Amino acid sequence: MKILVVGSGAREHAIVHALAHEADRLGSTPHELHAAPGNPGIAGLAELHVVDQVDGAAVTALATRLGADLVVVGPEAPLVAGVADAVRAAGIPVFGPGAEAARLEGSKAFAKEVMAAASVPTAMAHVCTDVDEVAAAIDGFGAPYVIKDDGLAAGKGVVVTDDRDVALEHARACLDGDGRRVVVEEYLDGPEVSLFCVSDGSTVVPLAPAQDFKRALDGDAGPNTGGMGAYSPLPWVPDGLVEEVVTRVAQPTIDEMARRGTPFVGVLYVGLALTSRGTRVVEFNARFGDPETQSVLSRMVTPLSAVMLAAAQGRLASLPPLAWSDDASVTVVVAAQGYPGAVRSGDPISGVDAAEQVDGVHVLHAGTARSADGVLVASGGRVLSVVARGTDLVEARRRAYEALGRIELAGSQHRTDIAARAAAGEITLAR
Ligand code: AMP
Ligand code: GLY
Repeated sequence: MKILVVGSGAREHAIVHALAHEADRLGSTPHELHAAPGNPGIAGLAELHVVDQVDGAAVTALATRLGADLVVVGPEAPLVAGVADAVRAAGIPVFGPGAEAARLEGSKAFAKEVMAAASVPTAMAHVCTDVDEVAAAIDGFGAPYVIKDDGLAAGKGVVVTDDRDVALEHARACLDGDGRRVVVEEYLDGPEVSLFCVSDGSTVVPLAPAQDFKRALDGDAGPNTGGMGAYSPLPWVPDGLVEEVVTRVAQPTIDEMARRGTPFVGVLYVGLALTSRGTRVVEFNARFGDPETQSVLSRMVTPLSAVMLAAAQGRLASLPPLAWSDDASVTVVVAAQGYPGAVRSGDPISGVDAAEQVDGVHVLHAGTARSADGVLVASGGRVLSVVARGTDLVEARRRAYEALGRIELAGSQHRTDIAARAAAGEITLAR
């Protein structure tokens, strides 16, 4: 197939990597892969095209010119901007929801409304438009306070704090941006799970669950980020969790979107908290999660192209059950100094090839660029994802950190505790 992947992060590199390796694994004809705009890592596997990724007409023109059989839209910004609608209108199969359906991610208030209509269990919430309302809402719920920017914020719009002043300050900052809305939520205790549910608008096919590490620093300290690492599978999740989430969350949400005439095609990312009072939705995203995708796709045996094309063409119900490797996979993000704030960039990166010499390891690019003389340099917050497979989480972790130790980037930071508690059997559920 000719496949065009839109985006430039490690998630898109993971998608391209999975598509590129299908042929070696299955002995099938290799795909012709294209990416827009892609990144220096993706450049080794796909032809790159310079396109404004939120410009639906430009992406559609490119897909048409290439004769693409499938377009995959990776990030939230082009989805919310309607890029999938434009491609779909041109008659090209596209994996990714249209703008209306992507509002499940684009507006937290909209997501709450859909969850209420579909009776999906989630945190109680108030949508507020001024600071007095926020103050009343947080005093009603009590600490810890959870304050969320209504709109897209690359994982950085959420503050969870015991400090009332910090909570109100964040609310003020969110409200100052274009008369925005703020969502105040009840605090959810318990470990978090990310479950990607692929849908063609009616059928739901869950992938393997993963866990993400959202905070910048070890021990879940520091500010929220886009995600500093991930692993899959989750040895500690109760049997039946995936079925429960499909039945109680994903299927009712997909049905509600279809009922509204805005069917959701793509990945419904269900972020969950396994609380003492049961499973609750923390958030929806309208796309694969980054960095969970890096670990989830590294374990997927069923060809990803078949799943995405079946979803794009409304044929998921006829797909055989997905097959998974029993291996564990751990992803550790190498971030630039300063992330998730203003970052240092332009420093050279070395040791990526040496890192990939470690058994079971591959390295995915995110914020990287080539300097004028061809040197790989850092150009963003999250720079690389080191993905390691092993027979269990202990081995996958060891390999990931051994590989990471071979990479040099001045000032870079990473968490040292990705999957550590799960590998040690220390995650417990209060239920
Ligand atoms: P969101 O952007 O909604 O995913 O929130 C980012 C992160 O903030 C989540 O992954 C959680 O770690 C945390 N968070 C969000 N909502 C809540 C909540 N209601 N209770 C506790 N933590 C939350
Ligand atoms: N890993 C969280 C996200 O992709 O939003």
